[in-house]
Parts: sequence; C-alpha cells; structure tokens
Amino acid sequence: MLDSDIKSILGGKYNDSFFKQASSLSNVLNNEGILVFDSFINPKGLIKLQKEAAELKPNSYKSSSEYNAYVSDYDDKFPSESPRNRIMSTTKKCIPNDLIPEDSILQKLYDSSFLKDFFCELLDKENLYPYEDSLSSININYYDKGDALGWHFDNSDFTITLLVKNCTKGGVYEFFNDMRYKDGKEDYDFVEKILDNEVSGTKVDSIEGDLMIFKGNKSIHQVTAVEEGERILVTFNYNEKMGVSLSKKSRKTFFGRVK
Ligand SMILES: [Fe+2]
Repeated sequence: MLDSDIKSILGGKYNDSFFKQASSLSNVLNNEGILVFDSFINPKGLIKLQKEAAELKPNSYKSSSEYNAYVSDYDDKFPSESPRNRIMSTTKKCIPNDLIPEDSILQKLYDSSFLKDFFCELLDKENLYPYEDSLSSININYYDKGDALGWHFDNSDFTITLLVKNCTKGGVYEFFNDMRYKDGKEDYDFVEKILDNEVSGTKVDSIEGDLMIFKGNKSIHQVTAVEEGERILVTFNYNEKMGVSLSKKSRKTFFGRVK
C-alpha cells in the first residue's frame, strides 16, 4: 500500500489499483521506449516541490560537460567529424542527493518500497538499489535560459524523471526510439542525420508534475535549449546491484565534488 504522505501529493488517478497494471504498462514501455505518467504529482505537491527546489537552487553546482552521442571515449577508427566522435554538450545546475532534506517528498518517493516494487515490475528488474555514494541517487537539475542537453544515448537502460517546473519556451524532450541494432552495430548514417537536424524525432510535451520513464540506452535523446523561464527536472537514479557508486569523474563533473 502507498503510505499516506505519498498519497497526499499524487494525482487523483494514482491510487493503489492504478499500480496493479504494471505488466500492461511494461508492454507500452517496451514498444514505445517511453511512459509518461501525466500529472503524477498533484498541484499541492507541486507547490511544495517547487518551493523546495527554489530554496535549494543557490547551492546548486553549475556544470558544462562535453561528450559524444555514445557517451564513450573517442574512437580513432572514425574521423573526428563522424557521428561517433562529434562533440555534444550539456549545461545545467544540479543539487545532489545529500543536499535534499531527509523529510523531502522526493526522498519519500525514492525510498517508497511500494513504488520501487512497481518500477521493478515495470522494468522487469529483480530489485532496485540506491547509489552507494551520497550524491547520485536523487538529483534536482535546473536548466536556465540557454541550458540544454545535447543528443546522446544513456549508459543506463532506464531513466526515471519528474518534471517539477516547466520553462515557458524551449526545453523540449525529443527522442528516436529503438535506435540500436540487435547485433550490436550502430546506425551511424541515421545518427548523422539526427545530429545535422535533417530529421526530427518524437517530441514530448510534458507538463509540470509528469513522471516519465524512458529507455535511454536504446533511444537517442536531447533536450533543446531553454529559451524562456526555468526547467526543473528531478532524476530518480537506481541501480540493479547493491553497492554501486557513480564514477568519480561523473561526480566531479556534475556535482563539483566526489563526496
Ligand atoms: Fe540521457
């Protein structure tokens, strides 16, 4: 059962029986690469989360990172201008887990065994564990004017996000589903078209309070630059194995510290 603290901030349709449909939702996720739980957080809960995020923002760490779409090392078998090696970039600000108060709704959502069981069934995982390090489990990400997330595939095979605040212009999530061949080969020709803006992907018109789960290692995705307003996106980061830390390099990049 959902505990009462969580129930009080969820949207009306997210009652105990909603969460019993995990297996049919799992099919949608596998076919479409994405699941959006619209208005997962109700207006009262959103006000709380927006206030908390605004209070924490002055302590956020501003990062800018560069990577290729495959988030892997430079491959000198390919020219530097090839889609395999082209440089993408992300700029954002981030509040790591250890700065989010223990009594925050975000911690309660993340720790809820009821929701964790639901995510496990949805994602066909035996169990989900928090990060071993103190920074990486929940992150509040802030995208201000000009901030963007360049095209990439995720390393992890699923991502869970909660849109706490939406910007008024720009900041659109765009993706191409099922972009990786089963034999492990990459479709560099098509990725080149994506990076050159010759094709456009599926755009997700999220609203504040939406929870989104996507298969980011199969679908290449980006968030376009914020043009007006501020976008605040929380990521709930889980591991399939106990005792896993985010790499020191990534912690240094996104949080400015390793502990
Ligand atoms: Fe991603």
